Amino acid sequence: MNEPVVSLEGVHVVHTSRSGGVVRRDRVHALTDVTASVRRGEVLGVVGESGCGKSTLARVMVGLQAPTSGTVRFRGGDLWSMPARARRKSFGSSVGVVFQDASTALNPRLPVRRILRDPLDVHARGTAREREARVLDLLGLVGLPGHVADAPPGRLSGGQRQRVAVARALALEPDVIVADEPTSALDVSVRAQVLNLLGDLRARLGLGLVFISHDIQTVRHLADRIAVMYLGRVIEEGPASEVAARARHPYTRALFSAAPSLLGAAERIVLTGPVPSATHPPSGCPFRTRCWKAGDECAARFPPSAAADRDGRHSWHCVHPESPIRSIRESR
Ligand SMILES: Nc1ncnc2c1ncn2[C@@H]1O[C@H](COP(=O)(O)OP(=O)(O)O)[C@@H](O)[C@H]1O
Ligand SMILES: [Mg+2]
Repeated sequence: MNEPVVSLEGVHVVHTSRSGGVVRRDRVHALTDVTASVRRGEVLGVVGESGCGKSTLARVMVGLQAPTSGTVRFRGGDLWSMPARARRKSFGSSVGVVFQDASTALNPRLPVRRILRDPLDVHARGTAREREARVLDLLGLVGLPGHVADAPPGRLSGGQRQRVAVARALALEPDVIVADEPTSALDVSVRAQVLNLLGDLRARLGLGLVFISHDIQTVRHLADRIAVMYLGRVIEEGPASEVAARARHPYTRALFSAAPSLLGAAERIVLTGPVPSATHPPSGCPFRTRCWKAGDECAARFPPSAAADRDGRHSWHCVHPESPIRSIRESR
């Protein structure tokens, strides 16, 4: 049975930030009651606008951020109850991370060889000779020539740097990689190459991948399952083909309608109304302030989960869901 490698259960993250002078402390609701999981061999796509909590989710999934409340499980066990050493050792080698901007994530002065050897050295993997061989294997795995090992990241192109970041994430043979907007900082011309690399690695290594992007087209392209986030919450989740063809949450429909190549001549749903603040999220459904269907009932409480069928694989939180019959082509 393919159990989740990492799962989040009812996770909340509240950041405390100072604003408006020294006295007032604002609480930012970055994640609210998020449940999500990833298994080996599958791609979970996470999509939502800037500020909706995607990077916070990534940080929680890779153990860089502890939740304010809720549980993070690693192979079923409570991650934050593990002794710190065990957490670093077994979780740290099982879950890799790739950030958006490799030019800041990689030390610009160190040769790539040192960058790739660092996790192997820290985790004392193999002999010195084996680590050296592993560096070359890793470069091959991400499609880079061996001589890149001698170059510092500053001498590489953006696409090559992001390949190095992927290689570093792969160094300890993780089960899962969390990639937070891994192509957003790249030239359009090399984005597809890095996406194809990630898809290819999933297939060849049986990796699990959490692929985070603000671009639903990119997510749709790569993901097996899609989780749609809005203001710190997952508002719809399901198999990628289901979510794409039969999105039930109005916000998901709006996201897809803004991706014209998927929709042909479909009418674009333009969201109006203010983007609410994560410091003072609206009561009830957070999307109601921009939703064309919202009524008083939407302010009462966050809608409970509804599902397309009994197994609940496609679920959403909305009291006025879109019809599953009408395709997105015809909606509105
Ligand atoms: N360290 C922090 N301190 C205070 N607020 C933060 C911090 N990190 C993120 N936030 C806030 O949390 C919310 C979610 O941010 P983030 O997870 O970066 O979203 P995304 O990656 O989707 O753009 C935003 O309102 C952001 O301003
Ligand atoms: Mg982000």
